[in-house]
Amino acid sequence: MAGEMPAKTVPAQRVVDYDSEGYDYRGFWRGRDYERWAEARVLHRQMARLGQPVWFADFGGGYGRNAVHYRRIADHSVIVDYSVTNLNRAAELLADDIRAGRVHLIRSDLAALPLIDSGVECAMVVRVLHHLTDVDACLAEMGRTVARRWLVDVPIKHHLLGRLRSALHGRYHEVRSAEPLVTGSSEYPFSTYNLSNIRHRLEAAGWGTQLVASVNNFRRWDQVLPASAVRVLRPAVCALETLAQDAGRGWWGPSQFVLARRQRPRPAALRPQPDALAGSMVELARRLACPACGGDLTWSTDAAHCAPCDLVYPRRGEFWDFHLSTSMTTSSAATTRSTLVPTR
Ligand SMILES: C[S@@+](CC[C@H](N)C(=O)[O-])C[C@H]1O[C@@H](n2cnc3c(N)ncnc32)[C@H](O)[C@@H]1O
Ligand SMILES: [Zn+2]
Repeated sequence: MAGEMPAKTVPAQRVVDYDSEGYDYRGFWRGRDYERWAEARVLHRQMARLGQPVWFADFGGGYGRNAVHYRRIADHSVIVDYSVTNLNRAAELLADDIRAGRVHLIRSDLAALPLIDSGVECAMVVRVLHHLTDVDACLAEMGRTVARRWLVDVPIKHHLLGRLRSALHGRYHEVRSAEPLVTGSSEYPFSTYNLSNIRHRLEAAGWGTQLVASVNNFRRWDQVLPASAVRVLRPAVCALETLAQDAGRGWWGPSQFVLARRQRPRPAALRPQPDALAGSMVELARRLACPACGGDLTWSTDAAHCAPCDLVYPRRGEFWDFHLSTSMTTSSAATTRSTLVPTR
C-alpha cells in the first residue's frame, strides 16, 4: 500500500519556537489562577460531552497541562506538539500515565500530522490557533484525523475589549473583516480570527459546529489590580465569569470554544499490526502513517521507517519525532541517530 500512495502536499508553515533561550511555558501560568479556573470550568463540562473515546488527541498539547481533563474520559491520549521542551516536560508531568500506556507523546507540526484519517475519536486544540500561520491548513489536517468530535478554542478578534480598542483607534474595520488580525512581531506573529469564518471553514469540511462557551471574559483583571483587591473581588468576578461563559458566546471573551461534530462519522482504516512493538504502542502504531506521504510505516522499538520516502522517524526518550526536518534517510540515520539534535 505504501508504495502506491500518492505524495501528500505538506504545507510549509513557520512554527512558533517554544524551545529557545530556556523558555519555560509553565512560568506563564504563575499568578493566573482566574484564567486557569475559567478554562478548567469549560473543559470539565465539555469533556463530558465527548463520550468515552478510546483514543483522544490534544493538538498543541504543550507540557500536558490539560491532560487532567481528558484522562478522565479517554482510555488513551496522544499529546501532539512541536516543542521538544514542552514534550520533555509532559514526559515528566505524566510519567505514570506514559509508563501505563495511557498517554503517548508525538512531536509534529499540526500542518502535517502522522495520524491516519479518523485515527482518534475525539480531540481538542486549546490556546494554539493564535500561533498558526496557516490556520486553514491546520484545521483541515487536525480535523482529518478526528472521527467524531473535537473542541476548538478560537481566539477571536471581535471580542468586547477588541471592539472597544479598535473603535477608539479608528480601526473598527479590522475587527469586522473576515481576515485574521495579525499582531505581534514578524518572528512571533499572533493571529486572532473572525469566529464565523472559522466555523464556516469547519462546516465546509463536514463538521457541525456549536458555540459552547465564551472564556476568560475578564482577561488579566487579576494582573492589573493589587493583590488585596483581587482577594476581595475574586468571588464576584468568578460568578460573573460563570454567567459570561454562556451569555458572552460569540462576542464577549477573547477565547470562544466551539464543539465540532462530524456530520457523517467514518471509521478509521487501521494500519497493519507491527510485530516489533508491545502494549498500547501497537494500537498507536496502527493509527500512525508517514506525515510526508501517508504511507505505512515499518516499526522497531526506537524508530519508524517509511520505505517510499526513505525517511526514519526516531523515538527520542519519551516521544516519537515526526517532525519532517529532523526525520532522516535510512543511510544518514545509521550514522547520526545517536547525535541527532532537534532544530529549534
Ligand atoms: C500556548 S501553548 C498551549 C499549550 C496547551 N494547549 C495548553 O493549553 O497548555 C501553545 C503550544 O502549541 C504548540 N504549537 C504551536 N504551533 C504548533 C504547530 N504548528 N505544530 C505543533 N505544535 C504547535 C507550541 O509548541 C506550544 O506548546
Ligand atoms: Zn513517506
